[in-house]
Amino acid sequence: MATVLLTGGTGLVGSYLQKKLEANNHTVSILSRNPQKDNHFKWDIDAGYIDEKAFENLDYIIHLAGAGIADKRWTSSRKEILISSRVASANLLFTKIKTLNIPLKGFISSSGIGFYGAQTTSKIYKEEDNPANDFIAQICIDWEKAAQQFSELSIPVTILRTGVVLSKDGGALQKMNTPLFLSALGNGKQYVPWIHIEDLCNLYVKSIEDVDFSGIYNAVSIDHETNTSFTKTLGKTIKKPVTPFNVPSFVLRTVLGELAVIVLEGSRVSAEKTANKYDFMYTKLSDALKNIYS
Ligand SMILES: NC(=O)c1ccc[n+]([C@@H]2O[C@H](COP(=O)([O-])OP(=O)(O)OC[C@H]3O[C@@H](n4cnc5c(N)ncnc54)[C@H](OP(=O)(O)O)[C@@H]3O)[C@@H](O)[C@H]2O)c1
Repeated sequence: MATVLLTGGTGLVGSYLQKKLEANNHTVSILSRNPQKDNHFKWDIDAGYIDEKAFENLDYIIHLAGAGIADKRWTSSRKEILISSRVASANLLFTKIKTLNIPLKGFISSSGIGFYGAQTTSKIYKEEDNPANDFIAQICIDWEKAAQQFSELSIPVTILRTGVVLSKDGGALQKMNTPLFLSALGNGKQYVPWIHIEDLCNLYVKSIEDVDFSGIYNAVSIDHETNTSFTKTLGKTIKKPVTPFNVPSFVLRTVLGELAVIVLEGSRVSAEKTANKYDFMYTKLSDALKNIYS
């Protein structure tokens, strides 16, 4: 059984993952800016500080920390926070692990399907594809580069390029279940790669329990939904009417600013490589949503 340190362990994915890891008899501790519990340790990324007790008997780090991409408008200072909360934090972990010579068995990091850019194309993006050239891709490029440093120390690195996480506890579904968003957005043809939180957390657990599961994987369901089909299935599942007209792109750009691009654009992302190693529990959006809202 492994000892696992979660950054961002107090968030949506981390809280769920902690329970799952503990159910599998792993020991979990959390790095947080505001430690609240006995198994929480303090870090201060700007000050270059991590409570070194967090590294005792440590086997794996799962790096989930990061300021919410869709939480606030992308001002230039917000953009810096979105990157540094993921990258400066990974760099700090790397420096500490290197300096303290911690024999880590693996570094596992979240990344996003934003790596392939906020663009609607007919292409189905695979792990070996090049990144795009926009801001959301830049976050992911820098984030993954920071994670990959651990391979310089011969520590296996696993990166999960994650789609929209479906959970009953918040996240994207909570935002979509509002009058503005329970309608097709823009032309509604953009794809929405998604993953049920159960499958995502199973992939994180697998990255600890299966030594062959390292490298880069798309963490998305094999199902491909457009914004229109996603919204219709959501409305049907929660028995709420979907607004009969699309929300025009300019309205979203006015409300959300540049951030609107991540809801107005999206391509399909391939789950093939991941599905060759992992049996997804949820391969149909209707089943995933039924589970969440049952
Ligand atoms: N949810 C999704 O749909 C989705 C999709 C793709 C990728 N991801 C990625 O998966 C990771 C986990 O997602 P999540 O939904 O669980 O996120 P979340 O609920 O927003 O939690 C993220 C955690 O990161 C820490 N954090 C927030 N702002 C920070 C900052 N400025 N500096 C350092 N740490 C900060 C917080 O921990 P403390 O307050 O305890 O420090 C927080 O609990 C994120 O990196 C996210 O980008 C999520």
